[in-house]
Amino acid sequence: MQVSDKLKGRDFISIHDYSADEVAYLLEVGLELKKLQKQSVPHPLLAGKTLGMIFQKSSTRTRVAFEVGMYQLGGYALFLSPKDIQLGRGETVKDTALVLSRMLDGIMIRTFAHDEVLELAHWASIPVINGLTDLLHPTQVIGDLMTAQEHKGRLQGLKLVYIGDGNNVAHELLYGCAKVGMDMTIACPPGFEPDSQVLAMARQDAQFSGARLEVVENPWEAIKGADVVYTDVWASMGQEGEAEEKEKQFLSYQINQALLAAANPDAIVMHCLPAKRGKEITDEVMDGPQSVVFYESENRLHAHKAIMAVTM
Ligand code: CP
Ligand code: NVA
Repeated sequence: MQVSDKLKGRDFISIHDYSADEVAYLLEVGLELKKLQKQSVPHPLLAGKTLGMIFQKSSTRTRVAFEVGMYQLGGYALFLSPKDIQLGRGETVKDTALVLSRMLDGIMIRTFAHDEVLELAHWASIPVINGLTDLLHPTQVIGDLMTAQEHKGRLQGLKLVYIGDGNNVAHELLYGCAKVGMDMTIACPPGFEPDSQVLAMARQDAQFSGARLEVVENPWEAIKGADVVYTDVWASMGQEGEAEEKEKQFLSYQINQALLAAANPDAIVMHCLPAKRGKEITDEVMDGPQSVVFYESENRLHAHKAIMAVTM
């Protein structure tokens, strides 16, 4: 297998930065890499290359997918904990970027402030991949689009309904849906709407694809006609102190069997995970026949491999 070098050297900070064709190409490469891996066909597209992975927040899926993915692509991935590297002791993002650019072929970073990723990318001469910030989670959404494509056979014209907090995952889903032409409705309690600037930029992208992006309050109204029902935790990493208060405000935003029954009968259920079972999603739904949550987790591996293979 060969990949085009048209995206070589590009950062991957948001799907918003990629054209619809480029997003389609990433999905195509991800699905092809998945096929090769399932058939045990070696695909050392990044032989001899190295990826540094900076994690300022916890991770299971993202870390394992990048580390294993790099190994399967013939390269090597280093886990850089802020507890151990000098960034954690106050070395600047700029200096870190300049140093790492001299030794590595790519950097993946998961952190709090989105600006930190932008700054790292500004100073680094190698591709920077956003592994989640408080604002966006693009590697998640590439895997999610792959999953929807596999389970629904198409993306364009589907309706994705996101019920819950207008957070980083919701923001990136807005960008992703806008690019591929999927309608998206977000249902959230007042005060927890997605960022208005992200929504406005996603709506601009959506002008090209025809996707309709809406934000409403009532989950029962939102879920009508849903092909994909999506949720995420009510309190994201860094908001642990707000969790208890938010649980009260989000009570009627739980994906349970009754609410799911109001979606299309063949709707699939997605969650980026980790889930708070019994809070935003019930066991019955998460373990039920409509749930594809573990397919999504697996597709992180194939999606991340595609992102690395085309940019590095
Ligand atoms: N969905 C996701 O990014 O999972 P991790 O936090 O485990 O990486
Ligand atoms: N919104 C969640 C996603 C975790 C993958 C968080 O930021 O914690």
